[in-house]
Amino acid sequence: MSAPVLAREAARAAAWLETYGSPLYVYDSGEVERRALELRAALPEGSRLLFSLKANPLPDIARLLQRLGCDAEVSSPGELAVALEAGFPPERVLYTGPGKSAEEVHAALAAGVTGFSAESWPDLERIDRVARAARLRARVLLRVNPSAPPVARLAMSGVSSQFGFDEADLVDGRARLAALGHVELMGLHVYQGTQLTDANSLLAAVRQALAVGESLSEVLGTRFQVMDVGGGFPWPFAAAGAGLDVSTLREPLALLSASRERTASAALWFESGRWLCGSSGTLWATVVDVKRSKGKRYVVLDSGIHHLGGMSGLGRVPLVGVGVARAEPVSGALEEVNVVGPLCTPLDCFARNVALPPLRPGDRVFIPNVGAYGLTASLTGFLSRPPPVELVHREGEVTAVYRLRWGHALYERPAPARPPGWEDAR
Ligand SMILES: Cc1ncc(COP(=O)(O)O)c(C=O)c1O
Repeated sequence: MSAPVLAREAARAAAWLETYGSPLYVYDSGEVERRALELRAALPEGSRLLFSLKANPLPDIARLLQRLGCDAEVSSPGELAVALEAGFPPERVLYTGPGKSAEEVHAALAAGVTGFSAESWPDLERIDRVARAARLRARVLLRVNPSAPPVARLAMSGVSSQFGFDEADLVDGRARLAALGHVELMGLHVYQGTQLTDANSLLAAVRQALAVGESLSEVLGTRFQVMDVGGGFPWPFAAAGAGLDVSTLREPLALLSASRERTASAALWFESGRWLCGSSGTLWATVVDVKRSKGKRYVVLDSGIHHLGGMSGLGRVPLVGVGVARAEPVSGALEEVNVVGPLCTPLDCFARNVALPPLRPGDRVFIPNVGAYGLTASLTGFLSRPPPVELVHREGEVTAVYRLRWGHALYERPAPARPPGWEDAR
């Protein structure tokens, strides 16, 4: 952030922190819109872009991305509810993830969702049985774990994993697929992992996915309608800076798309959560205490790993980049400090041995680029501290303010809506 931008953001945040309290997630919806338009413009013509709600299921962000023409990728009943509420038509929702229960598949089908990514033979056959019991049809993508080595740091393919069919498991799959009466094979889903390192690894992942498509189209004797080649578009997490310039992908992606043979007529689908909303979010927090212990200086904040980054996709508890915002110019020599949160665990540490201007209680600090996998990937239950308030604005105009529900409610068993033949479907 340049100095004038920082000063403007700090002044806005100071006012909002006064009104809504600290800590505070601030999301700029204009930033989400810019990212969505840039990414869509970089994808080959006719491609679809699915917003992965796991990155940030805030209703306003989902609604905005729906209006901007994205489809939705969801992996739980909660994400599905947000997507439908945000206006994604159910036929534009892809339900993904390992461990989908018969109940949730049924609920999704009953809500009108037809698209599922199947992760294994049992998952696929369960979707088929549930669809049969509900007298509906599902359209499935087979998620494939390619035989080739992975291109992602947090590899979800190319290594042994719970994600997808091993490519080899499908080689003799023709007859087994043909036996399924209530699923239609729509195509393949090859998601390689989040936060691919650069344009080259991203293009390598897409190339690999398309190669898998060519080969399995032949093996299974079918022409796919859809090739979901995943994503992994990178953006810095909890650190200053910008992500991949996706305009550089435009030409090579178009060439890759044009190089297809057996899958030439399949629609290309891409997925993104991180790149679409990472840059929109900043976490603002307040210094509660500054103390010294055995020669080291500690800055204790009112926010910690229950609000940010219990699991960011980069490591379990990543260290983050902390910036300082003060109304008056920050003066004094930099001091080496550890920036920690209020939780009763030494793991609650945002930054170790970082040089910051001298801080005192009441000072505001901020962590940029946390609009994706900020709150969703945090240890929200630990220590029963309340979740932070989340504020959405557009050019400084507040458009919505939320807080995740928190605390225990007495359990009430829901009455499940189960179709006839249910017991066989499970
Ligand atoms: C199947 C699938 N699709 C999409 C995503 C979103 O990835 P990203 O936020 O890096 O775009 C993930 C993340 O784990 C995923 O597992």
